[in-house]
Amino acid sequence: TPHLTILGLESSCDDTAAAIVCQAEGHRPEILSSIVYGQAELHADFGGVVPEIAARAHAEKLDVAVAEALAAAQMTLADLDAVAVTAGPGLIGGVLSGVMCAKGLSAATGLPLVGVNHLAGHALTPRLTDAVAFPYLMLLVSGGHCQYLIVRGPEEFTRLGGTIDDAPGEAFDKTARLLGLAQPGGPAVEADAKTGDPKRFRLPRPLLDRPDCNLSFSGLKTAVLRARDQIVAEKGGLTRQDRADLCAGFQQAVADTLTEKTRRAIRLYIRENPAEPVVAVAGGVAANGTIRAGLQALCQEAGARFLAPPLALCTDNAAMIAYAGMERFRAGARDGMDLAARPRWPL
Ligand code: KG4
Ligand code: ZN
Repeated sequence: TPHLTILGLESSCDDTAAAIVCQAEGHRPEILSSIVYGQAELHADFGGVVPEIAARAHAEKLDVAVAEALAAAQMTLADLDAVAVTAGPGLIGGVLSGVMCAKGLSAATGLPLVGVNHLAGHALTPRLTDAVAFPYLMLLVSGGHCQYLIVRGPEEFTRLGGTIDDAPGEAFDKTARLLGLAQPGGPAVEADAKTGDPKRFRLPRPLLDRPDCNLSFSGLKTAVLRARDQIVAEKGGLTRQDRADLCAGFQQAVADTLTEKTRRAIRLYIRENPAEPVVAVAGGVAANGTIRAGLQALCQEAGARFLAPPLALCTDNAAMIAYAGMERFRAGARDGMDLAARPRWPL
């Protein structure tokens, strides 16, 4: 097919999204529309995403998002070549909502159905924005995920390592909660860290003594908790400066850990002699200025191009699902009405 237009659906966590991406063969892909309904306010009182509330909101918003994505692209279903949908991994209620919606559209129109792995969506995003050639190194750092991948093709990934417990975004969110800051924790911790001294508290850099690309963030969160409790025991509470210093120390520990493990991942990746080495990031944590700066400096040192897609494409969205679906569709992939929603689905 020389020209493809794909509708993508995403509902695996707390964003309901629909997008339309098209590509003429030999040309760059183009995002015609990308609609995202976040659910932050629905979960705000609960200190985390509540699966049942998320699933219900997805079910209510998916068809709205699809209608808006079509309208924004000035298209109807008849203009599409296929429907791509996140089939996992993620919260099963949300994934099911998306898969059922996509099956309904497919059954009603005869459009082919393509199931997409959410992680593959993130991992292929550099090709949606920057014409990056395979193989490239991807660091996926979000609220739910943390892994290093060598991306060799649309469906070919080598996992070099990842977190053995919490994802870094989760650690930011928990740290924010410990310090009484707003959710999502990442931006709140980063803002407070600006006036803090990252050296005042000696926080751990977990697993740096091991040569592999695995990471751990739960001990770091516990160290913040201990430091907080010690200050509270000594002085009865935290001052603004205490809080800023804890945020700065925590953020620097995450940045140092990610930088050092990325150094090891780059070493493994460079061994394969990529023509033009590229290190790409995705996920909400890639928004963090200190983490970005650390990775950027490292890439410069290693002679690799550092690539951070625009933030709206780093965080959960459906354009990445439409694009990953397009790559699968071009390769001949088709799913049927038996497409399963998978809560767990490693790449
Ligand atoms: O990719 P994302 O939008 O959702 C998924 O987890 O799939 O990532 C959200 C995570 C949250 O944990 C949030 O606290 C974190 O990304 N985050 C940040 C920053 N902005 C968002 N973490 C550190 N620094 C930031 N500026
Ligand atoms: Zn995601």
